[in-house]
Amino acid sequence: IPVQPFDLVIFGATGDLARRKILPSLYRRLAVHQIPAGARIIGAARAKMSRAEFRKEVSDALLEFIGEAGLDKALVEEFINGLDYVTVDATGDNGWGTLAKKLDEKPDHIRAFYLSVAPALFGDISDRLAKHGIATPASRIVVEKPLGKDLASAKALNAQLSRNFDEHQIYRIDHYLGKETVQNLMAIRFGNALFEPLWNSNYVDHVQITVAESIGVAGRGAYYDKSGAMRDMVQNHMMQLLCLTAMEPPSKFDPDAVRDEKLKVIRALEPLTIGDTVRGQYRPSSKEGGYLDHVGDPNSHTESFVALKVHISNWRWAGTPFYLRTGKKLGSRFSEIAVVFKAPPHTIFPQVEHHRGNALIIRLQPNEGITLRVTIKEPGQGGMRLTEVPLDMTFAEALGADGLMPEAYERLIMDVIRGDQTLFMRGDEVEAAWAWTDPIIRAWDDAGTKPLPYDQGSAGPIQSYKLTSSDGHLWREIE
Ligand code: BG6
Repeated sequence: IPVQPFDLVIFGATGDLARRKILPSLYRRLAVHQIPAGARIIGAARAKMSRAEFRKEVSDALLEFIGEAGLDKALVEEFINGLDYVTVDATGDNGWGTLAKKLDEKPDHIRAFYLSVAPALFGDISDRLAKHGIATPASRIVVEKPLGKDLASAKALNAQLSRNFDEHQIYRIDHYLGKETVQNLMAIRFGNALFEPLWNSNYVDHVQITVAESIGVAGRGAYYDKSGAMRDMVQNHMMQLLCLTAMEPPSKFDPDAVRDEKLKVIRALEPLTIGDTVRGQYRPSSKEGGYLDHVGDPNSHTESFVALKVHISNWRWAGTPFYLRTGKKLGSRFSEIAVVFKAPPHTIFPQVEHHRGNALIIRLQPNEGITLRVTIKEPGQGGMRLTEVPLDMTFAEALGADGLMPEAYERLIMDVIRGDQTLFMRGDEVEAAWAWTDPIIRAWDDAGTKPLPYDQGSAGPIQSYKLTSSDGHLWREIE
C-alpha cells in the first residue's frame, strides 16, 4: 500500500549510513510500489554538488550496496529521477532559503527530515529548520544513535530537539526495532494465548539474550573506542530486546502504550554491580591484529565484549535472571533470545537424571525463526528414555517468498512517513536507559577494571561462563 506523497530531506545524504542503508531501503520500497508518484528525496549536505552529481553518487551507492543483480534498470531510473540535492550549511545560513523554496512547491506533501549526521549537528539543523520556516507542526525529524554518551548528554540532545519539535514529531531510530524478528517477539507474545500465562518467574527459569558479531571494529575504531559494547549495543539495541521480552502486555498496539510498558521495564532494572558484569577485548589472531591494534591505542580499556546478569525488580520477574551478552569478533554473527522454562517440578521417569526445561528460542539473525525445545521419548525398547528435540520454524521455509525479511530501515522510514512512532524510542526511554547504564560504566572506570582478553572466533572471555554457571545455568552455544 503506497504511503502519502512526501518530501524526505536527508541531511548527510552522501554519508555512510545514507549510502549503505537509507537510500537502498528507499529504492526497495519503490520496487514494491510503496513510494507514491511525486515523492521527493532531497539530499542535503555541505558539499557543493549538482543534482546530476548527486544522482550519480546515489546510483553508485545502489550498485555497491544492492548489487547489479538486485537492481531493475527502469526502477533505478525512476528512483534517480525523484532525487534532488541542495547544498546547505548546517552551522550557517547558506542554502536554507533554497531548501525552503523547494519544499514550498509541494505544500501538501508530508515533510520528514532525516538527520544522518553527527549528533553534534542535531541542534544546529533543527534550529535552522525552525528559523527558516521549513519545519511545520506536521513535519517529522528522524535521528539516530549515538543519542548521547551518558545521561547528561542524552538530556542535552533531547532538549535541543524539543526546542523546535514536539515529542510526537521526533523519530529516534533504534534499527533493531525495525528488524522483522524483533517485531515478531511482540506477535509471539501477544498474538498467542499459549506463552503469556507462562511468561513470568513462576515458570521462566532464566532468559538469555545474545547478540554476537563476527566483525571487529577495524575501520571504525575512533568511534568505537569512545563507546564500547555497553554504549554501542547494550544501552540501545539489547535494552530494546530486553524490554520487548520483559514488558507487560500493552493495552493496545499504539506508540505510547508500547513505550510506556518498555519504560517501566527500564525503570525496574536493578542497578548492576561489577560482579554482575564481564568485559572483554579480542586478542590478535594469527591473521590479524586485535582490538588494541584496531583502535590504535595499546592502553585502551574499552570493551569489545560484555556479558551481564540483569535483574528486574517487579512482580513478574523477581528471581528470574536475564543474561545479556554481546561482542565483536565472536564465533559467528548470531543473535537470539532464549526463554528457558523451569524443569517439571517432579519427574515420574526414574531413568531421567537431569530433566531440562522447555525453551523458546527466537532467532533474530541469521536464519530467522523460532524453536521450541520439547522433551519426548527416545524411540526404542530401552525403557522410558527421554530426549530433547527442537520444534523448529524458519520464516523463509514457513512463509516462502513472504518470509524474506525486509531491511529494518525499510520499515522504519515508511513508519516515519505514516506517522507511526511505535517502533521508535521516546526521549524518556533513552534517558532511562542511560540512567541505568551510566553508573556501571563509571564504576568500571573508577575501579580501573581492564577488559579480559578473548580469542577471535570464540564465545568471549571464559569468565563470562561464571556469570551463568554460578546460578547453575549455561550459556547457549554461539552457532
Ligand atoms: C550498530 C552498532 O548500531 O549495530 C554496530 O554501532 C553493530 O557496532 C551494529 O555492528 C549491529 O547491527 P546489525 O543489524 O548488523 O545486527
